[in-house]
Amino acid sequence: MNKVISKLKGKKILVTAGPTREYLDPVRYLSNESSGKMGYAIAEVLHGSGAQIILISGPVNICSDLPSEIVFPVTSASQMFEVCKSNFENVEGAIFCAAVADYAPKHQRCKKIKKEDNEISFQFVKNPDIAFEFSKFKTSSQKSIGFALETDDLLHNARQKLVKKRFDFIVLNSSLYPGEGFGCDTNKISILKTDGSLKTYPLKQKKEVAYDIVKEFSKLF
Ligand code: CTP
Repeated sequence: MNKVISKLKGKKILVTAGPTREYLDPVRYLSNESSGKMGYAIAEVLHGSGAQIILISGPVNICSDLPSEIVFPVTSASQMFEVCKSNFENVEGAIFCAAVADYAPKHQRCKKIKKEDNEISFQFVKNPDIAFEFSKFKTSSQKSIGFALETDDLLHNARQKLVKKRFDFIVLNSSLYPGEGFGCDTNKISILKTDGSLKTYPLKQKKEVAYDIVKEFSKLF
């Protein structure tokens, strides 16, 4: 094992992965294209490094070798937040990889919505921002990183998220080019640090990308 990532041995690290689903009624939901592959690949590298991980995962279709007792499946953003919150104090690091839905329906219908009028409207309310909530608790010894997947103004938006959520660095990827972002087995990332430096990596398999990210993450400790 690489000497740098072996620094993570025994460290308690929280990882969020996958999408969330916000149900409108028992059979319909609002979600996004996240496959969870990046988050699971990171969790696997961390597990291999000997870190004690807690993987909080939205609904995904991934066969993973991770032991089931360290994977906490959730559905909605609120559920993901509740599980994360109960671990905030005890972790030494957090990697926020999940594509959390920003809004949830204000009222979830308990019966299937019937097709009646020509138009239909829903009211949505903001979901908890898990990474931002963690930033309020975060002590100087706790490290956290996040992701920014953007379609435009990538660097500007990523810089704002880095500052607002007090990340130690942020991983940038765009969904504009083939082989990047949601669903693919490959990804092309850049890492933006708090000192303003930006390192861009070539297109790689997500497992290799996960290794690059974990290597940078381990240098924070
Ligand atoms: N994040 C989170 N909880 C949320 C929203 C985002 O923990 N409710 C985390 C993501 O896991 C990611 C980072 O914050 O690490 C940025 O997520 P992103 O969806 O790109 O940004 P938002 O803050 O939701 O902003 P916007 O959707 O307006 O771009």
